[in-house]
Amino acid sequence: MRLSEAKRDHYRKLAKEEGYSSRASYKLIQIQTKYRMLRPNNCVIDFGCAPGGWLEVASKEVGDGRVIGIDKKPVKTQLENVKILTIDVFDSDAESKILAILPRKADVVLSDLAPNISGVWEVDHAKQIDLCRRVIEFLPRILTRGGSILLKVFEGPHLKEFVNQVGKSFGYVNIAKPPASRTASSELYMVCKNYLG
Ligand SMILES: C[S@@+](CC[C@H](N)C(=O)[O-])C[C@H]1O[C@@H](n2cnc3c(N)ncnc32)[C@H](O)[C@@H]1O
Repeated sequence: MRLSEAKRDHYRKLAKEEGYSSRASYKLIQIQTKYRMLRPNNCVIDFGCAPGGWLEVASKEVGDGRVIGIDKKPVKTQLENVKILTIDVFDSDAESKILAILPRKADVVLSDLAPNISGVWEVDHAKQIDLCRRVIEFLPRILTRGGSILLKVFEGPHLKEFVNQVGKSFGYVNIAKPPASRTASSELYMVCKNYLG
């Protein structure tokens, strides 16, 4: 068994034991441990929330706050502080639907959005950047000044330009590779804090 497969199996087993919907939870837990993005009473938007691993972590961290999960796939949740919006982020009315469900501007925007992987690295990278750009388009209306974002990105030719461009709107930018993310995967997480608005 390759090391990355062993790692994936380890986190899948752990998720089952600890009652998380997906092994993806551990990526957010590890990022949260290091960067402290989510705080009690925060309002959080979780783009690409299915099947719900990040929702469960965010729900615990915000307590009396609110988490809005968005995905094109339906997600069922029993979590009292979580509301789900089933939409494609590229729908023309996506922003108005998000604004309608959002109680106030979010303190934190998470995005683990990922395209269907074609296996052609350049194509997948470009599609991933398109998803990230879509989330960035929404920010002025959905993210509070001083807020934070966490974005899944794929390594590739457009990444540097994207990071530089988005970085201009934040006081702090870093790139994280949590241990739960497979070493063989080109996925990275962009951590941005202190939104300048
Ligand atoms: C890696 S999964 C997210 C895993 C999730 N963070 C968790 O912890 O369970 C990526 C998600 O992005 C969603 N997605 C991809 N493109 C989308 C789009 N255009 N609009 C809405 N959701 C999309 C997929 O349906 C998928 O559920």
